[in-house]
Amino acid sequence: MNILFLGDVVGRSGRDAITARLPVLRQRLAADLVVVNGENASHGYGLAPDMARAFLAAGADVVTLGNHAWDRKEIIPFLEQERRVIRPVNFPPGTPGHGFVVVEVPGNRKALIVNVMGRLFMDALDDPFRAVQALLQQHPLGRAVHASVVDVHAEATSEKQAMGTSFDGLASLVIGTHTHVPTADHRVLPGGTAYQTDAGMCGDYDSVIGMQKAPAALRFWRKMPGEKLAPAEGEATLCGLFVETDDATGLARRVSAVREGGRLEAAGG
Ligand SMILES: [Fe+2]
Ligand SMILES: [Fe+2]
Repeated sequence: MNILFLGDVVGRSGRDAITARLPVLRQRLAADLVVVNGENASHGYGLAPDMARAFLAAGADVVTLGNHAWDRKEIIPFLEQERRVIRPVNFPPGTPGHGFVVVEVPGNRKALIVNVMGRLFMDALDDPFRAVQALLQQHPLGRAVHASVVDVHAEATSEKQAMGTSFDGLASLVIGTHTHVPTADHRVLPGGTAYQTDAGMCGDYDSVIGMQKAPAALRFWRKMPGEKLAPAEGEATLCGLFVETDDATGLARRVSAVREGGRLEAAGG
C-alpha cells in the first residue's frame, strides 16, 4: 500500500497548498491512503467543518487532530457525523468524537488510523501507550487490516521515539506531529514499522512554527501577553512522509520524505 502522511496544516497558506496541490501529489505518488493532520488549519487554531470537507475532497482519506482539536467549536458535532476526522484517542471516556477509524482502501483493503496525544509538556490525558496498544491488538496488522498508521501528536522527541519502538512490528507507520518541523530520522525500524519523529507542517516556514515571525519572537523578548498570533501567509511547504508497505504483512518496505513548495529543500516522495 502506498501511504502519504502530511503534517499539521497551518492557516490559509497550508489550506491552499492542500487544496491546490494534494490532488496532483496524490496522483504522482499513486497513493492509496492519504492522512493529513488538520489541527492548525483554522488561523492556526483548530479545524472548521468546511475545511475538513475541503481536505477530504482534495484527496485526504482521514484528517487527524491534536491539542487544538477543540478550538473551533463547530467541529464537536461534526466529529460525531464524520468518522474520517479523528481526535486524539486518549481523551477521557465520554469526550465527543473518535480517536481512530478503519477506512476502506482500493483493492478491497482496510487501514486503521489512530490519533494519540503525548503527555510530556502537554495536557495530561489518559495513557497514550496503553491506548495505542489496545487498538493495535484489536486490529492486528496483516489480519484485520492491511495497514495501520499512528499519528503521535506530541512535544517530546523521547516520547515519540518510545512510541515508535513500543509498536515496532505492530503498526505500518508511527509518525509524530505537533512540533511543525520535519525531522531527518525517517526510516524503517528493525521490526518493520516506518517511523519519523515529526512529519513537519504544511505551512509557511518563514515563520515561528507557522505563525508570523515578529509577534511570535516578541513573546520571548517581552514576558507579557501579546496579541493573538496569526499564521504566516507565504507559500506553504507540504511536508510529510511517503511509505510503501507490504499488504501481506502490513509492514513498511520503504520510506521517503516529502517536501514540496515554499522555503524548504524539496524532497520527492
Ligand atoms: Fe500543530
Ligand atoms: Fe499540536
